[in-house]
Amino acid sequence: MLTKTSAPTSLAAGRIQHAGLAAKRMSAEQAAALIQPGWRVGMSGFTGAGYPKAVPLALAHRIEAAHAAGENFRIGLWTGASTAPELDGALAKVDGIDMRLPYQSDPTVRARINSGDMQYVDLHLSHVAQYVWFGFLGRLNVAVIEVAGILPDGRLVPSTSVGNNKTWIDLADHVILEVNSRQRAELEGMHDIYYGTALPPHRRPIPLFESGQRIGEPYLRCDPAKVIAVVETDAPDRNSKFAEPDANSNAIAEHIIDFLQHEVRHGRLPKELLPLQSGVGNIANAVLAGLNTGPFDNLTAFTEVLQDGMLDMLKSGKLKSASCTALSLSPEAAAYFDEHMAEFKSRIIIRPQEISNHPELIRRMGLIAMNAMIECDIYGNVNSTHVMGSSIMNGIGGSGDFARNAYLSIFMSPSTAKGGAISCIVPMASHVDHTEHDVQVIVTERGLADLRGLAPQQRARKVIDTCAHPDFREALHDYVERARASANGQHTPHLLTEALGWHERFLRTGSMKA
Ligand code: COA
Repeated sequence: MLTKTSAPTSLAAGRIQHAGLAAKRMSAEQAAALIQPGWRVGMSGFTGAGYPKAVPLALAHRIEAAHAAGENFRIGLWTGASTAPELDGALAKVDGIDMRLPYQSDPTVRARINSGDMQYVDLHLSHVAQYVWFGFLGRLNVAVIEVAGILPDGRLVPSTSVGNNKTWIDLADHVILEVNSRQRAELEGMHDIYYGTALPPHRRPIPLFESGQRIGEPYLRCDPAKVIAVVETDAPDRNSKFAEPDANSNAIAEHIIDFLQHEVRHGRLPKELLPLQSGVGNIANAVLAGLNTGPFDNLTAFTEVLQDGMLDMLKSGKLKSASCTALSLSPEAAAYFDEHMAEFKSRIIIRPQEISNHPELIRRMGLIAMNAMIECDIYGNVNSTHVMGSSIMNGIGGSGDFARNAYLSIFMSPSTAKGGAISCIVPMASHVDHTEHDVQVIVTERGLADLRGLAPQQRARKVIDTCAHPDFREALHDYVERARASANGQHTPHLLTEALGWHERFLRTGSMKA
């Protein structure tokens, strides 16, 4: 159990200590007025943490007024990942986003994308920064970045996420800073901003060999001359509540822990495992809760988002350290974290997402990657992003960065969705984010299918017998048998006219059941 302490930070002397930047203080409305129609805007924010709280709302009001006056006003919105209703939600509500990238999870944004009103480019999170550096996505006009404070020399104390902030600040023509005094001053020192990345052909290995290592500096660098506005705010992060783990998530957690123990017994994992990566959401949280009472000690994490389950593991001492790019905590966990930040400081490292999700590092350290999925097919192709082939749910996030490069790549889901009407194990995935080549283990509440070393037909038998819900097992076996009887090849037999028939039936009748 950690005790409450507080440590002195340089922000005790004030949140805006650079005289030139203090002189650029203005209201959110004045700052939003500097953003022009058609601009590409890089905002901070990652899974509801560290996003600007005031300028996006003021910008939404401005766009609404412009639309009412018959003017065309939309922006391109780039972020770290998902943000919050005050940012994504507000701008989408007024139809202010022309193009959005990368990961999002906002209901209004999702509706606009799925109605065809908003373009959405769903990138691997590790790719975003380098694509902007390569010039693949065009010029970034302005960055709007939340920080916890500004030091006398203009360096910035980052907020509760780092995401793409370093790249946005380095490459944007202009920078708007939101200084949020609600973010704790003790955040200072928790971040590790690595400035050693370069562009090909000048790249060198990233010198990070252990998840808990620091290789950079705790501050973001920013040329004060680029800053066009400084806005003061005092508002909390989104801090969404997690649902209590249900029977399905608990069963999935038990299967994974049994499997990891099995791997340790067979000498394929050390007893303290390998660094953990855990996706977001309730199932992932349940797995972490299971690990917190499970048999493993001295664990480490090299993950994208630190959520309640990992904070609990740091509290209990099960987890030695956690590297991430953002916090994503419930209100209760955020309150605990705020009070005990000084003690967590040496064990939590918040990095840019190009480092937290870097394929080189994931491959080198040998991660155990655990991510949720929407559906997978009998051969182990995984869909993380689309409902019934066409509608986006959220996005690929970091799941591809981790799945392809991890030591162990695990995907998990309940065996059915929508009250049992949908089988999450289908003949053919209606969209593929992670191919069979990147997927080693599938887990549902029914069981865990270890697909390593299995050929497609063996994989199909294993996935159906172990993971599918009994209501759909017979139909899946029947599909495979008929495919074997009439497919043009026997390596990965499919019935091409029927492969997506389960999805089509659901759209027509409301159920995948025949
Ligand atoms: N068909 C249709 N809908 C499905 C479905 C399926 N096969 N499986 C799940 N759903 C629906 C659920 O019914 C639920 O809908 P609702 O919001 O209307 O209730 C929704 O998808 C979310 O499912 P849930 O079971 O609550 O899981 P989750 O919150 O863990 O989300 C993903 C699952 C896959 C959507 C989510 O993990 C995600 O976006 N992943 C991609 C990014 C990622 O992996 N990031 C982590 C990498 S670091």
